[in-house]
Amino acid sequence: MSIQNSNRENWGSKLGFILAAAGSAIGLGNIWKFPYVVGENGGAAFIIIYLICTAVIGLPVIIAEILLGRTTQRNPVGAFYALSKSKFWASIGGMGVFAGFVILSFYSVVAGWSFGYIFEAINGVFNDFQTPQAAGQHFEALVSNVYWIVGFQFLFTLVSIFFVYRGVQKGIEQGSKIMMPVLFVLLFILMIRGLTLPNAEKGIEFLFNADWSLVNGQTVLMALGQAFFTLSLGMGAMMTYGSYMSKKNSIPTSAIQIIFLDTLIALVAGVAIFTAVFATGQDTNAGPGLIFHTLPVVFNKMPGGYIFSILFFILLTIAAITSAISLLEVITAYFVDERKWSRKKAAIVFGIVAFVFGVPSALSFNVLSDTTLFGLTYYGIVDYLASNILLPLGGFFIAVFVAWRWGFDKAIVNLKDGAGELFAKYPWMLLGWKILIKYLAPILIFLVFLNSIGLF
Ligand code: TRP
Repeated sequence: MSIQNSNRENWGSKLGFILAAAGSAIGLGNIWKFPYVVGENGGAAFIIIYLICTAVIGLPVIIAEILLGRTTQRNPVGAFYALSKSKFWASIGGMGVFAGFVILSFYSVVAGWSFGYIFEAINGVFNDFQTPQAAGQHFEALVSNVYWIVGFQFLFTLVSIFFVYRGVQKGIEQGSKIMMPVLFVLLFILMIRGLTLPNAEKGIEFLFNADWSLVNGQTVLMALGQAFFTLSLGMGAMMTYGSYMSKKNSIPTSAIQIIFLDTLIALVAGVAIFTAVFATGQDTNAGPGLIFHTLPVVFNKMPGGYIFSILFFILLTIAAITSAISLLEVITAYFVDERKWSRKKAAIVFGIVAFVFGVPSALSFNVLSDTTLFGLTYYGIVDYLASNILLPLGGFFIAVFVAWRWGFDKAIVNLKDGAGELFAKYPWMLLGWKILIKYLAPILIFLVFLNSIGLF
């Protein structure tokens, strides 16, 4: 097919793409969600299943997504349509754009907590926390305050809009290049601090000593959902970022680098946080509040904790920003490519609309906390819908599309762009990808799915 998109934006460099994609992948999913989901699902056994999901499903699907984007140079709807001329497949892309919108709406709420905690840290609030209970109560008091929670959700949304508004190179790429390396260094320092706390070995044991009796079908679904969420897969975020990528660069190499960074950061965050949880005698099962209960107490006890606490929440917020902009970028790219909107207009309009749809998620932690369906709050429902249903479903269709509809042979021709040498050296990689994307990934996703709806 011919691509006449010479005016379309692109990444300034290969490193820029890797850092932007890693910036999308590394976010609240790694530092906030991974630890508490591990805590709720029994620790090491969950981590092992998550790692398997990442290697067997995450890797082939991320390659497929980047490839679809780079080949077509389109947003998800346009990408599926360009290769199939089918309304059905275009609507699968549409489901991705919708999922991105849903995720953005609740993601900004939690990112807002992190944003707000920067100011708590600056004000020295953590100095008063002698016990984890005090930190927990303070967290509860903050999230019960409608003005605080919605206010920071809104501020966070504005910052995300700013980067998408500025464009691919000047906004997304520049921002990622500055902040990602700093995030990495700081998290590493926090891990060392965690490891040198008393009782650190209990945290390590929790993370690396598997108790299989806790595993059931639901655990596997959660692990799969987490693998998709943390890698930004299943809704076209990687596709959209791939659409700005040069054909001179190798997709498999980039995919492995992105996955490596993302997994490393999740594990490092897990070590930093669980050593601290056990050292301060807290509950691993604290749910979404976990890091907001634990870390303030740890900061209070560590030398230089005042400065580290400020830096940590700045960096967590920035990790969240580089992820949120990838969510907003998908909707923006759709409206720019398909509806001929300007980037600036699309970024502002959908940033604000996502904020409005996110308000009930914010209120789920206060005035709507008792309004539940199947025992889940509005926040719980949109999170479950997006992370455990839409993303795995999207991943399933992406794998099926590349392997069966577009066709493996055509996919390979495009995948070889920029990766010719790699495949010449390691020809088994192509076969490996073929087996995973054609059979293993779709079948496994499907089975996990059937199990989750109680079919076996
Ligand atoms: N991966 C990000 C995180 O771990 C969240 C995210 C950004 C995301 N873009 C996405 C999740 C697209 C799913 C799909 O915090």
